[in-house]
Amino acid sequence: MPTDLVPSADEIAVHWREEPRIDPPTDFSRQAQVRDRSLQEALDPSHGPEAFRAYADLLTWDRPYDRVLDASQPPFYRWFPGGQLNASVNAIDRHLPDAADRIAYHFVPEDESAPVEHVSYAELSRRVNRLARLLQDRFALVAGDRVTLYLPMVPELPVAMLACARLGVIHSVVFSGFSGKAAGDRIVDSNSRLLITMDGYSRGGQWVDLKAKADQAVVDCRSRNHRLEGLLVFERTPHHYRSESPIRTPGEFILTDLLEGISQDFCKPVSRESNDGLFIMYSSGTTGRPKGCFHGTGGYLSWVAATTRYVLDLKPQDIYWCMADIGWITGHSYIVYGPLVLGATSVLYEGLPHWPDAARPWRISEHLGVTILHTSPTAIRALRRLDPDLPQRYATAFRLLCTVGEPIEPETWHWYHETVGHRRAVIVDTYWQTETGGHLLATLPGLDAMKPGSAGPPLPGITAAIYDETGRKLPPGSGRAGLLGIEHPWPGLMLGIWNDPDRFRKTYFDPLQKGAGSDRWIYCTHDAATWSADGYFRILGRTDDVINVAGHRLGSKEMESAALSVAGVAEAAVVPYPDPVKGAVPLLFISAQAIVSHANDLVPAVAQAVVEAIGPIARPHAVILVSDLPKTRSGKIMRRILRAVARGEEAGDVTTLANPESVSQVRDAVGKSLAAHPTPTSDERS
Ligand code: PRX
Repeated sequence: MPTDLVPSADEIAVHWREEPRIDPPTDFSRQAQVRDRSLQEALDPSHGPEAFRAYADLLTWDRPYDRVLDASQPPFYRWFPGGQLNASVNAIDRHLPDAADRIAYHFVPEDESAPVEHVSYAELSRRVNRLARLLQDRFALVAGDRVTLYLPMVPELPVAMLACARLGVIHSVVFSGFSGKAAGDRIVDSNSRLLITMDGYSRGGQWVDLKAKADQAVVDCRSRNHRLEGLLVFERTPHHYRSESPIRTPGEFILTDLLEGISQDFCKPVSRESNDGLFIMYSSGTTGRPKGCFHGTGGYLSWVAATTRYVLDLKPQDIYWCMADIGWITGHSYIVYGPLVLGATSVLYEGLPHWPDAARPWRISEHLGVTILHTSPTAIRALRRLDPDLPQRYATAFRLLCTVGEPIEPETWHWYHETVGHRRAVIVDTYWQTETGGHLLATLPGLDAMKPGSAGPPLPGITAAIYDETGRKLPPGSGRAGLLGIEHPWPGLMLGIWNDPDRFRKTYFDPLQKGAGSDRWIYCTHDAATWSADGYFRILGRTDDVINVAGHRLGSKEMESAALSVAGVAEAAVVPYPDPVKGAVPLLFISAQAIVSHANDLVPAVAQAVVEAIGPIARPHAVILVSDLPKTRSGKIMRRILRAVARGEEAGDVTTLANPESVSQVRDAVGKSLAAHPTPTSDERS
């Protein structure tokens, strides 16, 4: 267990103090979808998993399931086995008889002079079915195939996801801010047959040429002997192809023309077994390679539908806006599958939140009548910094405000509550991960008191606890931090890691197996947390080598291997550095090989290599060249010391280092380098 990263009691004390609890507004509680504890009681683990039937009942099944849970091969849990269903039918078809004209997405282009596009469920159905037909008839895709989607925040992205789901094709969405090379890695790992992309899109007023990045992905695939059968390109504006990169034949196609050739608006959905795969979402983890979190159909959909209803309190009459990108798990679960399965109306916004100015979110919310807003602490901090009084000037009517992705400090929480929510909206801090499919910890908004800075108690059906370095459970109110673990399976947990079952068990279940006995399988989140006497958890951050930048997970090993790919770099180590807006930014330490004559030239080359390998989101705040990195006698780089020195803290005991003199050198280099690097911008793609 990586216990050197679990904070000590002293370290916890420098975090914010326990905040008083605040009851949800009575107006909210009166209309909330969960108004009593019956759900929670029914889902108490002492009754077994049977009560999760209520979650499965939120879905439309083609064939009923045989039982609720097959736990015969832990940790590979299978939910609702024998049941058959199709995700796109659940997201679209079942709403058509009664709500075909209801808006599924109000699509707001970044360019404010462009009109908002109102996509009804009937229109969504038409687009999804036509694309599914094309993929089936022209490209012969069949259930179980993989397709990579490299698309921005436009309706074509949910359309493409649902077209895949209609055929039982497993989609793998790559965040459009990632580099072409990162997309290439994911195409190869998932063995995708097709890549679907767009000519480009608008971000911060600039045209981003996505097709050109997709070309890099194709080149990368080719160099690794992976032959894509097709590159399909949507046009951001139909019939106005804008990329600098031409469409090359054979193998590359403009989708506008192909889709216009499809004459039918219906494609028969392929019924899937509950545990057939729905999608792969790559996430950074404990080794260099991003891992494909592989989610199933019935369990995942039931979990996201239930949490969207019970935690976000989403109702068909709401206007709901989640500002995350669909290229991350939040968008999959809470822009696409959860809201659509419930037949809700969402806002889909293409661009930067503060484009062209910090009032844009409030203008959109006022204009469209947004009732539920869902965003990250990074976005809240950025908007507050730009103008803390601005939201008050707009007649917004939020009833629920959600935050996700990183710990939110009480000061930011209070601004969200008072200035954005006018104290009338309830705040929900939702803690979860790509792997968990949906929320794990959060307050039930109509019932539980809010506590700024604490995500809250475990949701109904979730049994959470913290564990010390020996694997022993720490009691609530101990004042100590431990590793957060989840004791029983729940329907949203991923099926496994794509192509790597061993890694799934090793990464998530081995760490907490130790003290618990061999018949217990406890899911390890790799987050440190405290557990208060009132049962609320406060998340302190990752204990592995994941760095959470603006709520996005980056693997330090991935950045380090990109740095090491630059000729002349001898060693590289990445540590998180606190940032007032993004929570943390990566600081990259390097040392040069002795033969290098102009070591300073390595600094820009390394920064560039990281951006090319991963994307601008991973751009180091600074690349710091030192002559030697602090190491143990066995040669292990001491990231803990780098982290402390970068923050201006005491390095602690350095006597066991092979090179204790390196610490003062590192301190000098940090001082010089950070003085030259002011706070970075808050755009994850710049
Ligand atoms: O460290 C936790 C942090 O984000 C990590 C998961 O990142 P990802 O898989 O990209 O999913 C992000 C969207 C759920 C966690 O291990 N995290 C997520 N939500 C919170 C959080 N940290 C504190 N508070 C949260 N509400």
